[in-house]
Amino acid sequence: MEAIRIEKTKNPKEKPGQDNPLVFGTIFTDHMFEMDYEKGKGWYDPRIVPYHPLSLDPSAMVFHYGQTMFEGLKAYKAEDGRILLFRPNKNIERANRSNRRLCIPEIPEDIFMEALKELVKTDADWIPTKPGTSLYIRPFVIATDPFLGVRPSDTYKFMIILSPVGPYYESGLDPVKIWIEDEYVRAVKGGIGEAKTGGNYAASLASQVKAHDEGYAQVLWLDGVHRKYIEEVGAMNIFFKINGTVVTPALNGSILAGVTRDSVIALCKEWNVPVEERQISVDEVIDAARTGAMEECFGSGTAAVVSPVGELRFEQEKMEIHGGRIGELTQKIYDTITGIQLGKIKGPEGWSVEVK
Ligand code: COI
Repeated sequence: MEAIRIEKTKNPKEKPGQDNPLVFGTIFTDHMFEMDYEKGKGWYDPRIVPYHPLSLDPSAMVFHYGQTMFEGLKAYKAEDGRILLFRPNKNIERANRSNRRLCIPEIPEDIFMEALKELVKTDADWIPTKPGTSLYIRPFVIATDPFLGVRPSDTYKFMIILSPVGPYYESGLDPVKIWIEDEYVRAVKGGIGEAKTGGNYAASLASQVKAHDEGYAQVLWLDGVHRKYIEEVGAMNIFFKINGTVVTPALNGSILAGVTRDSVIALCKEWNVPVEERQISVDEVIDAARTGAMEECFGSGTAAVVSPVGELRFEQEKMEIHGGRIGELTQKIYDTITGIQLGKIKGPEGWSVEVK
């Protein structure tokens, strides 16, 4: 493996103060990782360089046909000073699954891991330590051939940027209100719904704007064929606790395989909380909410961690969940996952990777 070259900035930025709310995705650190790809040559020149704007040909394929992949994971500073990544191997595996679906060349896992660690180490002073904060890591690939025909690009750029963040939602850990979407759809089986790529998020915007205008934080998608089965929320997977059982939609080919989703399921299993990954219809959700069988509802995601849902809205009906308050199991899952992320609780093997 080619060694990562490191060029440190000569103009370090001012870091956000302790009282900065660290609005998600607005502040970027001093450095970034970059690596290029050419057909026949492979990935080359891995480097950490000062954070900088890009210069790209306006015809670069990513701008026109959206051949791109992104990931999201977080680094934390433990009380004893250790720097911890939460399950980075899962993100690396998923990145390459997305790459395969989008005809982007795979990134060697060892280079990817090394790049994450070296970059986080370089900007370690940017990891915030206030409760509820972390250093969000955004790896992504773009197709760079200057060409307007539709085909996979022959050249790519892989980059990683870092952003100190607070909670994803303005409301923090207060329950969010979610709009169940019955007009637009996000993805269908066979499409790109299970890949982490910009197009899925572009497809979500019109619906998200509509939901925001009505006072809802995010959209809960129904499947694109029957318009009946629950899929996922804009930036999270979704869980319902119904009559003591935790239910989440099964990974069916159009849903994102969330790392936090996987972690929630593993914890429930460890605690002997019944958990089912299966098809769940909107009718079942509405019925459970109406009869009070719906005890809790929450979303899971890297950015959102575990976010309680206090209200679901479907057509004209508003359904309050758990009195609009966070449920006990949701709180326990949140505390456990953030405890593991911060190194306060020992998680399963491989969940915490130390950056040294
Ligand atoms: C993440 O949770 O990391 C995501 O990628 C969701 C993103 C849309 C903020």
